[in-house]
Amino acid sequence: MDIKQLIHTLQHTHQLQPEQMQTLLTAAFSDAVIRAKLAQAAQQTAQAVFGNKIYIRGLIEFTNYCRNDCYYCGIRRSNTEAVRYRLTEEQILSCCEQGYALGFRTFVLQGGEDLIYSDTDLAAIISAIKQAYPDCAVTLSIGERRREAYQLWKKAGADRYLLRHETADSEHYARLHPAELKLSNRKRCLRDLKELGYQVGTGFMVGSPWQTMANLLEDLAFIRELQPQMIGIGPFIPHHATPFKNYPAGTLEQTLTLLSVLRLMFPKVLLPATTALGTIVPNGRELGILAGANVVMPNLSPADVRQNYLLYDNKLCSGAEAAEAKNDLAARLHSIGYEIAEGRGDYKES
Ligand code: 5AD
Repeated sequence: MDIKQLIHTLQHTHQLQPEQMQTLLTAAFSDAVIRAKLAQAAQQTAQAVFGNKIYIRGLIEFTNYCRNDCYYCGIRRSNTEAVRYRLTEEQILSCCEQGYALGFRTFVLQGGEDLIYSDTDLAAIISAIKQAYPDCAVTLSIGERRREAYQLWKKAGADRYLLRHETADSEHYARLHPAELKLSNRKRCLRDLKELGYQVGTGFMVGSPWQTMANLLEDLAFIRELQPQMIGIGPFIPHHATPFKNYPAGTLEQTLTLLSVLRLMFPKVLLPATTALGTIVPNGRELGILAGANVVMPNLSPADVRQNYLLYDNKLCSGAEAAEAKNDLAARLHSIGYEIAEGRGDYKES
């Protein structure tokens, strides 16, 4: 089959054999014409489901303390350069208040794995948000915990959970993380979250050190098996104070290719154009949308802590990246033919 046919098959059957997928990915990574064809198909598929609407989520990075020591991440516990902060419940609620006034109807509570916030502390924060904003969705992105914690938070009103698998290959996983972190536990968490009725997001970094084509095929197979409602991918970007400081960043070309392939595999999935994509090129998020993404997640954290939530170098936190610049964002989206959607932007089963 030639490449055009592969794209056609993927668009209409939502799958390819692994060898075919490898052929398509290899071609698209290196050929702008193929990438454009793939993006066109993906954009068409996204528009058939979502029209020209882009969902927005207000991201509240409420703590950058982390018990983990992931080799790629700027807020890893061994990074003594990181200026650590935590937001109180009151501060978090005030972020939500500002976000609500700006039109956000999903709040994403993201943080390092900070055990100072107990299971019950977090449940109280979730309940308070849901009580104040019953028409809003609460998404959690706070890492690996016990099933009981996930259950408690679901009861408290949490709707969605983001937990990237990072890589579906356990040997690759072991090269990105210290020994105490296991892919099997990450998968256990994702299964628990699904069983408990969360809308679940997973994903991986594109171009992380030692990532191979075989790894990417495994990532796609893992995502197919999990059937998540959301998929977050973005380029790996080195952080100067981590063991991976000298590794090259993932590329725009690879990231856009994978966004398009994911859109064609999962037409209805919620697929963000991530901050990392916006960081490697100035119009990265627009390009992501034109490649099939349909979600953006501007930053609602208080201005004075934003510059401290640095997962990688040069992470964007101002301009259209900032929630208060929603007009900027709307204008940028408008320039490529899109509009901000109102409402929670839930995954639609049928
Ligand atoms: N580059 C890109 N993405 C990163 N993340 C963490 N560190 C980096 C980095 N250096 C991503 C991980 C994590 C998410 C919150 O941020 O995939 O799951």
